[in-house]
Amino acid sequence: MARLFINTNEKKSTINRNIYGHFAEHLGRCIYNGIYVGEDSPIPNEKGMRKDVVEALRNIKIPVLRWPGGCFADEYHWKDGIGPKENRKKMVNTHWGGVVEDNSFGTHEFMELCRQLDCEPYINGNVGSGTVQEMSEWVEYLTFDGVSPMAQLRKDNGQEKAWRVKYWGVGNENWGCGGNMRPEYYADLYRRFATYVRNYGENKIYKIACGACDWNYDWTEKLMSIAGHQMDALTLHYYTFPGDDWHKKLSATEFTDEIYYKTLHKALKMDELIANHTHIMNRFDPAHRVGLIVDEWGTWFLVEPGTNPGFLFQQNTMRDAMVAGMTLNIFNKHSDRVVMANLAQTVNVLQAVVLTEGGQMVLTPTYHVFDLFKHHHDARLVHTFAETETIGTEKFTVPHLNASASVNGEGTLTVTMVNPSADKELSVEILFTDMGAKTAKGRILTGGTHDFNGFDSPEKVKITGFDEINLVPGMVSLTLPPCCVMELRIS
Ligand code: AHR
Repeated sequence: MARLFINTNEKKSTINRNIYGHFAEHLGRCIYNGIYVGEDSPIPNEKGMRKDVVEALRNIKIPVLRWPGGCFADEYHWKDGIGPKENRKKMVNTHWGGVVEDNSFGTHEFMELCRQLDCEPYINGNVGSGTVQEMSEWVEYLTFDGVSPMAQLRKDNGQEKAWRVKYWGVGNENWGCGGNMRPEYYADLYRRFATYVRNYGENKIYKIACGACDWNYDWTEKLMSIAGHQMDALTLHYYTFPGDDWHKKLSATEFTDEIYYKTLHKALKMDELIANHTHIMNRFDPAHRVGLIVDEWGTWFLVEPGTNPGFLFQQNTMRDAMVAGMTLNIFNKHSDRVVMANLAQTVNVLQAVVLTEGGQMVLTPTYHVFDLFKHHHDARLVHTFAETETIGTEKFTVPHLNASASVNGEGTLTVTMVNPSADKELSVEILFTDMGAKTAKGRILTGGTHDFNGFDSPEKVKITGFDEINLVPGMVSLTLPPCCVMELRIS
């Protein structure tokens, strides 16, 4: 039995819809085949973008998409990906699988994809192997409407009007694949590159500096101290992998209860990481002017047997759904500092929301969690307190109830709850301050911990309605089945 106390009178930060953002890299089958198949493909497409995938992503109201990497970003030279496709350079994608990158998906295609998805573009520029001029010209090419060499080049390539691009990343993982830099060195480079990332006309760029990975608090400290005044946001990357060591990946679909709880236990570290990085940021920026962007997060397992190890293609079970639900609740609760997050990665890579095989597509359990959480977009976080026991194994425990709640403009209270137990249901009493509520509607995703949607069983795991809800003034009671994520809407 657990109790969830919700004080709807205590409205906190607005949950930025961009917390529900995604990330698509030139990696494996994420862009090519997963999103982009080209106009001549027999797979139904609009201007080369798969219609099925675009429709699925629109349904979860994807608010922002980060591109082109990842590690690929610091090897990407944008001018290779513009102009007539037959003239675009064919090259090797050195970081991911050593396959041919034919540059058929470039700047124009990415902007077209964002138009079809109705989402904000977030472009990550190249610091590791690029130049200040190259980054500066990319911004000019995209956003300048006047007379200039880059604006003319864009027009020559068929795009008369400048696009609007707000989110701009100045390098990615520059402590690692983005150049193996020391924080002091990168902070200085950031200042230099960011100086020439210009605002043209009405287009105001939100400048994002490369932040730390995991527990590297020194990076955050130095970046805030040296370059904090010149950035709008700093990033954080954290992946959940159940092995003891980064190099020892474990299966995405075969795991014991011990490994199941270890995965969830490690996923919950996100809370501690955000709190500690925020604590450092607060010292330099008590007014919370600089946002924290978790622009890479998710599970990282072994690739599916027989697939290219450089493609990072993994299945996605109800364990991933638990990780997604718990992490999104954590982001909501930190929405006073976390202004964006981007799940790695949208299609066919790591904790994907969509998997494809030829013309087939399946929606993963993680996809359905994003669907269950979509009413939190831009709503006001309200105070919650969960009185709950812990569950798990001797070594790895997690709270039996994980939740967050928000109120939207119409006054509807949305509560998202996760029961991560592999085998125990949980009776929950939700006590809230709005005594006038008349209806409570639920939607739920539940299944066995190992359940997943395969191409031969695409709907094994899906959202269903949930109406075993008892509503009395100021209280809802219900029972959460084991291994479930639920959305409850009370109005
Ligand atoms: O998402 C896969 C990779 O993980 C990204 O390219 C990189 O930034 C991170 O290490």
